[in-house]
Amino acid sequence: MSRTNRRTDPKSYFVKSFGCQMNVYDGERMAELLDAEGLAPVDDADAADLVVLNTCHIREKAAEKVYSDIGRLRRDDGSTPMIAIAGCVAQAEGAEIPRRAREVDIVVGPQAYHNLPTLVAKAARGEDALDTDMPVASKFGALPKRAKQAPSAFLTVQEGCDKFCTYCVVPYTRGAEVSRPWKAVIDEARALVDAGAKEITLLGQNVNAWETDDETGNRQGLDGLIRALDRIAGLERIRYTTSHPNDMTEGLIRAHGEVDALMPYLHLPVQSGSDPILKAMNRSHSAASYLAIIERVREARPDIAISGDFIVGFPGESDEDFEATLDIVRATNYAQAFSFKYSARPGTPAAEMTDCFIAPELADERLQRLQALLNEQQMAFNQQAIGKRTRVLLEREGRKTGQRIGKSPWLQSVHLDTDEPIGTMIDVDILSAGPRSLGGAMPAEEAA
Ligand code: SAH
Ligand code: SF4
Ligand code: F3S
Repeated sequence: MSRTNRRTDPKSYFVKSFGCQMNVYDGERMAELLDAEGLAPVDDADAADLVVLNTCHIREKAAEKVYSDIGRLRRDDGSTPMIAIAGCVAQAEGAEIPRRAREVDIVVGPQAYHNLPTLVAKAARGEDALDTDMPVASKFGALPKRAKQAPSAFLTVQEGCDKFCTYCVVPYTRGAEVSRPWKAVIDEARALVDAGAKEITLLGQNVNAWETDDETGNRQGLDGLIRALDRIAGLERIRYTTSHPNDMTEGLIRAHGEVDALMPYLHLPVQSGSDPILKAMNRSHSAASYLAIIERVREARPDIAISGDFIVGFPGESDEDFEATLDIVRATNYAQAFSFKYSARPGTPAAEMTDCFIAPELADERLQRLQALLNEQQMAFNQQAIGKRTRVLLEREGRKTGQRIGKSPWLQSVHLDTDEPIGTMIDVDILSAGPRSLGGAMPAEEAA
């Protein structure tokens, strides 16, 4: 990726993150790094000297989008800002990116972005600036202190994946499962709360696989961490995502019934309801074992909202397999869900199963049927809230004047008119429900 042009040192930057919440977290950390280097954040790619595209490689569409996004960074006078490609496409495609898009200056993988300032300096000198190493020493130690926080903050505690589901790129783009140390996580949680966070969502590609020793040398799982975080004064809500069914321990399930700050919401992807397909996906759980977990979680916390991920049109998926997916959706009754059409990813085992690929039209039709059922369940879940008083953490301004948007314990967006400041926890009477959000009002006796 040799460059002909030297560039001036960038004075301003813009970071855009795609993909999962872990990328959102990484995007925030890169912004903090650039702040510490004296660069000024701007709201618009067109006004920035340095643009960081923090990319996602999970499905073909997401990965290909990067190249059209790079093209759009060209300005009317033909110039481009300094462009850094970060995230999972950077990891997966590396030096291929500047070969395809010559305007790219920097390529930096998800485990190497603490080196971003060095890479920026190299790019400014017109040198190659590529770093997709996965160092053993954690990047976290090299990152600056947490800056001012919104009421709801992300905290990555676990990275990488050892599960190797046959369709998935994550084990290749993020590397092996690593748990951040006990003290590092607790210190960062405290720093987030000191900086204004009221809610923390613990993140990991397999967050419930998080496991480490505490300061007394006792082995702790995610439930132990949640109980420790529950003792931080000022931290009112704890969430975690994403979980794998195989790492759903008894302790974690029990925590849902015992820790008040742990919100009644569980994102537990199942992907398919058919055992032969689950086997071909290398999911290492069955439909029945998944349902057994859901049952135990509901025993511990009856009002818990269950959310999931689904893939339709996995190679070899028959009508019967797809019906089994609809069955598990009916049996689980989801409050929220994400569903995708299978996308063959280079380098994954499922991409080799070309003899049993599913016709795209059939996959489309299945996706529509699945989404219709999931939407129905989501709407029904939201409608149950009407007429109830619920606790809402105000997170941001709404589009209309006087409107604020917050979250219910079950992760529903709640819109209401109020003067209460962002970051306050208030009681709201829920008056209406849509497929994606609730409408509410301050209880009459409390409204000013
Ligand atoms: N670690 C998490 C999620 C990782 S990716 C987990 O295991 O649940 C988020 C979701 O993207 C997955 O749950 C899956 O539903 C979907 N996904 C992953 N690879 C995909 C592919 N090749 N095609 C379509 N969807 C995919
Ligand atoms: Fe991908 Fe499976 Fe790992 Fe989730 S558990 S990140 S779907 S390989
Ligand atoms: Fe995408 Fe990487 Fe997250 S592929 S979903 S950004 S782990």
